[in-house]
Amino acid sequence: MTRPVIANWKMNFSLAQAIDFCNDITRFNNESLIIAAPFPYLAILTNQFPHLNFAAQNVSDRTTNYGPFTGEVSAEMLASCGVKYCIIGHSERRKYNNENNATSKLKAQYCIEHNITPIICVGETKEERALGTYIGFINNQLLECLPDSSAFILAYEPIWSIGTGNIPTSKQLDEVFSLFENIIAKPIALVYGGSVNGGNVSDVAKVTSVDGLLLGKASLNATELEQIIQSWINK
Ligand code: PGA
Repeated sequence: MTRPVIANWKMNFSLAQAIDFCNDITRFNNESLIIAAPFPYLAILTNQFPHLNFAAQNVSDRTTNYGPFTGEVSAEMLASCGVKYCIIGHSERRKYNNENNATSKLKAQYCIEHNITPIICVGETKEERALGTYIGFINNQLLECLPDSSAFILAYEPIWSIGTGNIPTSKQLDEVFSLFENIIAKPIALVYGGSVNGGNVSDVAKVTSVDGLLLGKASLNATELEQIIQSWINK
């Protein structure tokens, strides 16, 4: 998928609401859409909606497919449920679940081994942006997180933008996406995430190096999601 729009539902929706949402979105062109649903819904959704693409929001970093690891879900298990993508290293997991670059790299490798495309998230804090150290910080994340193969989607998700309503300027996006293009072999797609909504998607669409979007809040409203996808695929 070259122009993905990734809907990160995070910890939202009951199962019934998730099914209603998927029924609702079949009315519009959703070929570029990837829905990152909570773990317990994935097998049900992939089964009921085989024409949609689903992602997990996390995967285990354990080295085995099965074993005594209470609460863990392996890449093998996700693949057996028809999951094609997996978000890795989101800043919320780094913050609340002690994840880091090393665990992100392991998870990305396991996903690739199981034909699941990792969606690897990097991005700086407000402090790093203010100090001017953000390019070095992102560069280091790339060096430490990225798997050996280029079969991944890379997401720039500045922490100061997620859930705040602030999106980077075109110049700020250009700077980071040029870094991506310069230092890594072309991955499947380069995406931007952080406070994208129906009102500002056209601003992000002007930045030609951004191939796709990672949406949080705006992905919980089917009407807004449709509007964003229309703007994005027509950009
Ligand atoms: P947001 O979240 O769109 O609600 O800012 C984006 C994300 O966390 O991926």
